[in-house]
Amino acid sequence: MSRIAPPGARISVLYPAEEIGKRVRALAGEIAAAMGRDPLVVPILKGSFIFAADLLRALHEAGAEPDMDFIGLSSYGTGTLSLGEVRILRDTEAEIAGRDVLIVDDILESGRTLAFAADLMAARGARSVKSCVLLRKPGKLAVDVTADFVGFDCPDRFVVGYGMDIAHAWRQLPFIGFVER
Ligand code: IMP
Ligand code: MG
Repeated sequence: MSRIAPPGARISVLYPAEEIGKRVRALAGEIAAAMGRDPLVVPILKGSFIFAADLLRALHEAGAEPDMDFIGLSSYGTGTLSLGEVRILRDTEAEIAGRDVLIVDDILESGRTLAFAADLMAARGARSVKSCVLLRKPGKLAVDVTADFVGFDCPDRFVVGYGMDIAHAWRQLPFIGFVER
């Protein structure tokens, strides 16, 4: 299946909205069972914002009462090649010490972003740190990190939509797809 997406490129659908919604609800059930009632959910901006918003509501449905705070990290410029070095673009405001933190990211690729965020939360005294990623790409891990909760193991393509971008475009798509070359 493919659709025309603005500004005129063809996007092939990898995960339709309905499939994402179903998976997000299942993930929330797993997370609520493993982390208890009041985790501090920390989405990594910007790519995870739609996933995190859906996950938060699904956690409510699963009986949890999570707090949420945000961190903005970047390991990319505007292109599709990771620069390898992670920078804090926006820091958290919440007290991290003593909290059960759930880091939420869109994609686990080299693992540098997730490892950086997990180390930071641990250094700030989190009682526990777990992580949830919507997509995990194969064969790209460069650091020793694992995600505790994974939405989908996805093909090794540069994906867009459902909050994810390429050079700031296509975050608004309700599905996840890749740009056809
Ligand atoms: P890592 O640090 O190499 O694991 O890269 C993870 C970060 O890179 C994620 O937070 C994403 O924002 C970004 N990223 C990696 N692959 C893609 C992609 O295919 N589309 C959009 N963003 C991506
Ligand atoms: Mg990101």
